[in-house]
Amino acid sequence: MSKKYLYIETFGCQMNVHDSEQMAVLMQAEGYRLTSDVHQADLILMNTCSIREKAEQKAFSELGRLVKLKEKKPELIIGFGGCLAQHLADKVYKRAAAVDLVFGTHNIHQLPVMIEKVQKEHKKITQVKFFDRLRSLGIFAPPPEGALSAFVSIMQGCDNYCAYCVVPYLRGPEMSRTPEDILDEIRKLADRGVKEVTLLGQNVNSYGKHLDPSCNFVTLIEKINEIDGIDRIRFTTSHPKDLSNELMDCFGQLSKLCEHIHLPVQSGSNRILKLMNRGYTAQDYLSKVERLQSICPQISITSDIIVGFPGETEQDYQETIDMMEKIRFDSVFSFMYSEREGTAACNLPKKVPLQEKRLRLRQLQLLQEAHTQQKNTGLKGSVQEVLVEGRSKNSHQDVMGRTRCWKIVNFKGGSELTGDLVRVEITRGFLHSLRGELIKP
Ligand code: SAH
Ligand code: SF4
Ligand code: F3S
Repeated sequence: MSKKYLYIETFGCQMNVHDSEQMAVLMQAEGYRLTSDVHQADLILMNTCSIREKAEQKAFSELGRLVKLKEKKPELIIGFGGCLAQHLADKVYKRAAAVDLVFGTHNIHQLPVMIEKVQKEHKKITQVKFFDRLRSLGIFAPPPEGALSAFVSIMQGCDNYCAYCVVPYLRGPEMSRTPEDILDEIRKLADRGVKEVTLLGQNVNSYGKHLDPSCNFVTLIEKINEIDGIDRIRFTTSHPKDLSNELMDCFGQLSKLCEHIHLPVQSGSNRILKLMNRGYTAQDYLSKVERLQSICPQISITSDIIVGFPGETEQDYQETIDMMEKIRFDSVFSFMYSEREGTAACNLPKKVPLQEKRLRLRQLQLLQEAHTQQKNTGLKGSVQEVLVEGRSKNSHQDVMGRTRCWKIVNFKGGSELTGDLVRVEITRGFLHSLRGELIKP
């Protein structure tokens, strides 16, 4: 049998990264080999994102490039999947007639059957029905040889309907995998040498809401904490309104739970938070952060912020800046509000002009850079546990790894350290990384 090659292009969040890993596993079982050379591909899968307008533009400009390849290689199959595919369905063909298959976020497990059909029947397929997403979520993607970290999807979808966000429409309602399935998957990962797992979900704090028998997120991570071979547990994303005291207490109690939480605040203004339908006030958020910091003083806190939500005044924006000054996040992903068709915020008045949004974003990012730099410099002299991932890109004499609080550290050492948990004294803090010295055991 001649070799068939698969090329996957992934956009968007970690959910999509993990979905792409699952697509690869399914198609490898059908005889495809992964390639990083798009010209070699017999099958191209695009896994797209629709969170902001820019993400859509990126996907379409990439699609334009890929479609040209088909002129030279007519038997090439192009599949368009993920959140943007879910959103556009059949309309994708109007933008790019060369696409053969459009598949949604719940249809990954059907890929082999759909591809075979396209090949045999030479007709276009669109499959974006929400029906069996948990089946796709449960596909086991064995980690690549030597991988130390792995993503584990514990749930899918979102019931929160934040006014700006398309995710609930594209990923469907919240559904949780059973704890048995999740624990089984993590044990398999540990057997293959994985030491760190990141639990994925749009809102992991509400894990288990619909499960029978019930199991909440705290019980789940307590059980993961007992799995031999796993040294580190991370999770993302947490919704502030569902961050319970019990979950916060875990940061002081569970030895493997890393001291980092990504806790998107979105805005520091109560008026805007209400319009966003976030379900908490700035004061609620601040008091949760204070509680986290008192339970676990070394915790690193990162966040997402949107500027220019409809109706955001200079005063509202200033309240976001004030909140950033009070908390001093370790880092922040910040975005200009982007209107998404079908979301509640489309109907809100007082859209903020692009120019103003740009200005607010730039100022906010400059402030955050200063805070990140301060935080990283502040770690000088501290001793951090680092999971060594391998050679550093900076210098062939260095290796790199991450601290428990999710910071990259470069330090002098040989690649035989890869996979080890070592102690490193931090000597310098930069904007995007730390420098340190290995403490010999
Ligand atoms: N489920 C996660 C993250 C969802 S998307 C959560 O609830 O936090 C990641 C981030 O994209 C969001 O936190 C938000 O800051 C940003 N985002 C989502 N929709 C957006 C929009 N329409 N315009 C700009 N940013 C948006
Ligand atoms: Fe979107 Fe809000 Fe759900 Fe996050 S919690 S995915 S921002 S609707
Ligand atoms: Fe994008 Fe979908 Fe993730 S819209 S951010 S890929 S859930």
